Amino acid sequence: MTVSVLEEVRSRIFDKRYEWSRIDRAKALSSPAALDLLREACLIESYLPVYTSKMTELFWDDLEATEVYTIEAFEAYTHYYTLRRYLDIVGYRPISDEEIVRLRSRERSVRYTDQIRELVNFMATEQFAASFFEDLIDAVKEPVLQAMLARFAGEEVRHSELACHLLRRRVERDPDIADRIVEMASKVRHVGSYVLPHVSPAKDDNVKTLIEFSRRIEGLTGRSLTSALLAARREAP
Ligand SMILES: [Fe+2]
Repeated sequence: MTVSVLEEVRSRIFDKRYEWSRIDRAKALSSPAALDLLREACLIESYLPVYTSKMTELFWDDLEATEVYTIEAFEAYTHYYTLRRYLDIVGYRPISDEEIVRLRSRERSVRYTDQIRELVNFMATEQFAASFFEDLIDAVKEPVLQAMLARFAGEEVRHSELACHLLRRRVERDPDIADRIVEMASKVRHVGSYVLPHVSPAKDDNVKTLIEFSRRIEGLTGRSLTSALLAARREAP
């Protein structure tokens, strides 16, 4: 079979990035629970490049924001591609094109209209993803996968910082935006939950990640997220 130009480009991007030929199948398959989590992460990453195209429309006139979402789109694509190829190589529940198309179809007609909501969810999602990949490094035993996860975690930290930067810019321009950020942070959603019924943490206890998120919101807005959550609970009927 001839190699398509797309396959050639993929190969140029990915073949030297990781030591694919050194993947230890037996070691990989000895952590099925971790592979299930990575499969879920791969599905979420497959959605992000199309989600970011919707964000490009929402942030059309904001060059920094469209740049940030373009970086996210490309690096999320690399995470998706890497994980999918990894699952194929080790032969663990390979992902099909149909599964990805089905996943995307849920969001096809959704239009996003709230920049602050999306930036807060983006910042949280990326921070959650960084902890997720970091936590999995200890849970897997296969060294090639550990190298992949370390790279992903570093990239997710930067994506979250980029989202934070865009929010900070907005607060500088209009300090009243801080209230909206706290409000959205109190209803925060993982972007993966836009297309999946459930998003799993890598560890049962993700309190550390939540505390860190709350601290970052406080640093950004000067307001306490915990107090906002408690007030919302008091007001709830
Ligand atoms: Fe990301």
